[in-house]
Amino acid sequence: MSDYKFGFIGVGNMGSALAIAVSKSVSGNEIMLADKFANKAQVLSNNLNCDVYDNTAVAARAKFIFLGVKPQMLKETLDGIADTLARRTDRFILVSMAAGVQISSIKEMLGANYPIIRIMPNTPVLVGEGMILYTCNDEVFMDEISEFCDGLKFAGKLDKIPENLIDAASAVSGCGPAFVYMFAESLADAAVECGLPRAKAIEYAAQTLLGSAKMILKTSKHPAELKDEVCSPAGSTIEGVHALENSGFRAGVMNAVKSSYKRTKELGKN
Ligand SMILES: NC(=O)c1ccc[n+]([C@@H]2O[C@H](COP(=O)([O-])OP(=O)(O)OC[C@H]3O[C@@H](n4cnc5c(N)ncnc54)[C@H](OP(=O)(O)O)[C@@H]3O)[C@@H](O)[C@H]2O)c1
Repeated sequence: MSDYKFGFIGVGNMGSALAIAVSKSVSGNEIMLADKFANKAQVLSNNLNCDVYDNTAVAARAKFIFLGVKPQMLKETLDGIADTLARRTDRFILVSMAAGVQISSIKEMLGANYPIIRIMPNTPVLVGEGMILYTCNDEVFMDEISEFCDGLKFAGKLDKIPENLIDAASAVSGCGPAFVYMFAESLADAAVECGLPRAKAIEYAAQTLLGSAKMILKTSKHPAELKDEVCSPAGSTIEGVHALENSGFRAGVMNAVKSSYKRTKELGKN
C-alpha cells in the first residue's frame, strides 16, 4: 500500500505550484516532495507542512507520482527510479507534465506499461485559476482519475482531452500566461507613459484582463462580439483597435502560439 497520496519529483515553478494546489485539498502528511536541489523542497515543505525525501522514496511510496522536471531531464529522472517502480506490487500512477512528451515515449523510456496520466497545467494553479488539460492511458482506472481530479480541485479547471490535441492546447494555456503577462506589462507601460502611477497602471491592467476573461467565459459571447460592444462609433477604443491592427497584433499573437507549438513538438523528440 502506498503510504502517501501525492509525491512530487522536481518542485520548480510548475511542480511547486501543483504541490501547493494539492495541499489545499489533502493534509501535508499525504504529500511528499523531492528535488535535485533539496533545499528548494525543504523551503516548500515548511510551508506545506509535509516531508522531503529523495526521488527513490517518492517512487516507492506515493500513489500519484508527479514528474516535475524539464522534458530534457525526464529520461535521466525515470532511469533513476525505474528499478524502484518495477519492484512495487501496489497501485501507483505516474503523472507527467513534460511539455511535448507523449505517454508512449514515457512507456518506452521505462520499458514498462504503467498507469500514466499526462497533464498540461499552467502556473495560475498557484492561485486556484489554472487550466489543467489531462489525458491518460488505458491502465488508469476511473476511480483513480476521480481521485486525481479531486486532489487538484483547488488548482482551477481540469479538462480531459485526447492526447493528439494536448500540444496545441498547451501552446495556449501552458505557455499563454507568459504572453498575457507581456500584454499586461505593455498596457501598464503605456498607461505610465500617459501619466498613471506604475502601481495603479498594473492593477488596472490586471483587473481588466481578469474582467474581460470572465466576460468571455460567463457570457459565452464570441470575443469579437465583446470587442464590438466596447467600440463606440468614432470613439477612442476603435482608434486603439486600429492601432493594434496596424502593429500586426493578431499576427504577432498567432505567431507566438504557433512558435510555442513548434518548440513543444521539438522538446518531445529530445
Ligand atoms: N513552467 C510552466 O509554466 C510550465 C507549464 C506547463 C508545463 N510545464 C512542465 O513542467 C515541468 C517543469 O517545468 P518548470 O518550469 O517547473 O521547471 P523548473 O522550474 O526548472 O523545475 C524543475 C525542477 O526539477 C529539478 N530537477 C531537475 N532534475 C531533477 C531530478 N533528476 N530529480 C529531481 N529534481 C530534479 C530542478 O532542479 P535544478 O533547478 O537544480 O535543475 C528544478 O527544481 C516541465 O516538464 C515543463 O514542460 C511547465
